[in-house]
Amino acid sequence: MASSTVDLATKDRGVLFNPNDEAKAAGWGTDDPYVHLAKLHDGPPVVKGVLEDLMGIPRQYHTEMWLGDVYSILSFEAVNKAFMDSETFSNRVYEKLSKPGLGDTLLNLDGGEHKRLRNVSKPWFKPSFTDGWWTNMWTISAIDEIFDRITAKDHADLNLELCAPLPMSVVSAGFGIPASEALEFRQALLMHASPEEMAKGHAFAADMLTRLMDERRAKPKDDLISRFVHADIEQADGTTRKMTPDEVMRYCFLIIHAGGGTTWRQLGITILALMNHPEQLEALRQDRSLMRPAIQEVTRWYPTDTAFLRYVEKDTVLEGVEMKAGSVAMLCLGTANRDRKQWEDPDTLNIHRPAKRHFAFGAGAHACLGQHLSRQEMEVALGALLDRLGDLRWDPDYPPARMGGGTLIGRGPEALHVRYTPKPKQ
Ligand code: HEM
Repeated sequence: MASSTVDLATKDRGVLFNPNDEAKAAGWGTDDPYVHLAKLHDGPPVVKGVLEDLMGIPRQYHTEMWLGDVYSILSFEAVNKAFMDSETFSNRVYEKLSKPGLGDTLLNLDGGEHKRLRNVSKPWFKPSFTDGWWTNMWTISAIDEIFDRITAKDHADLNLELCAPLPMSVVSAGFGIPASEALEFRQALLMHASPEEMAKGHAFAADMLTRLMDERRAKPKDDLISRFVHADIEQADGTTRKMTPDEVMRYCFLIIHAGGGTTWRQLGITILALMNHPEQLEALRQDRSLMRPAIQEVTRWYPTDTAFLRYVEKDTVLEGVEMKAGSVAMLCLGTANRDRKQWEDPDTLNIHRPAKRHFAFGAGAHACLGQHLSRQEMEVALGALLDRLGDLRWDPDYPPARMGGGTLIGRGPEALHVRYTPKPKQ
């Protein structure tokens, strides 16, 4: 039977979006951001200046090249205010960032236009749909297939064999992209070195999606491309219309892109964190009601992306600091999620903490659309890891697993080499 999941071989690393390779290519550091962010905890909640400068590390975003002043937003309260006030702190910042980019998508739009676009796919990402349709149709079967491969031996690189293929398989399958074409599709959408290669990649992905959209328009299936091509979008005057092929294309590109690397890295971070806190991993093994709190805690403690940008639309004052229209705000999840006023001993991972809101998935109008899907994928993956890999331990033939990626964005483990006693599915 043909495989329904993406099976990555070591040779595929290079053709995938690998946060660490990309970070190296861009000359970003792979330092642990928390060492540097710790300096900022006792200072003011909002500081004029580029976050990397305040941290004392080389700049990753060259914000000053394309916009005005830059402010770092550090405390929980200040980050919350900026996320929740999208009229003042807008996502137009992405228009500057994403050239040649995807064009208008959820990410860069704001206000009514953003809301109407988001409403199209909102029902397909709400918890009842992710716990039901996504999990039953795609996640469980992907996990079974991935773990059948992993348990055919007694060692694995879970980063390559579990964390990377899972979200790519689930999201591609959910959209209706066959597993055999998912890798090529993803490769085409990556950031390429030259504008010509970018254009070539996008044209390839666009051709593939156009073919699938035409097929689904004629004969719908139970997948997201079929839902998108038949969906109605509300307009400013309250009437509705079908989305254009171009709108569907951009929407699909964004979601497929956003839904792969993030969950890959965050699941990897979660496995690395729990394996390095064996007493907490054991507590989770014994009491699965800790699963959601554990995922909530690891995402607080170590979100894959440490900072997000916003464009300051009008003169404003945040936590007593005046900010001029045209400035950039760098919202630092890394400091906000470890704000001493919000959490006791926030640098310590503790899956027994009472659940509390944090910013790993953003907040406000642009809060992550796929957050419930991603949590659900991680939950199913961790459950299988606990059930099917007995005596799970680090592989002594490899150096200790470490976190890599950009210091501020795209962090995740470089590899997760483990040994175990394989167990059959119960
Ligand atoms: C652990 C995994 C994930 C993390 C940590 C994450 C994080 C985030 C964050 C922080 C934002 C807000 C960006 C901003 O405010 O500028 C965001 C937005 C978004 N995410 Fe995720 N994400 C994850 C998984 C996913 C998945 C699985 C999907 C879809 C399948 C997805 C789709 C999106 C989309 C479409 C947006 C834009 C929403 C909007 O602007 O209205 N994400 N994500």
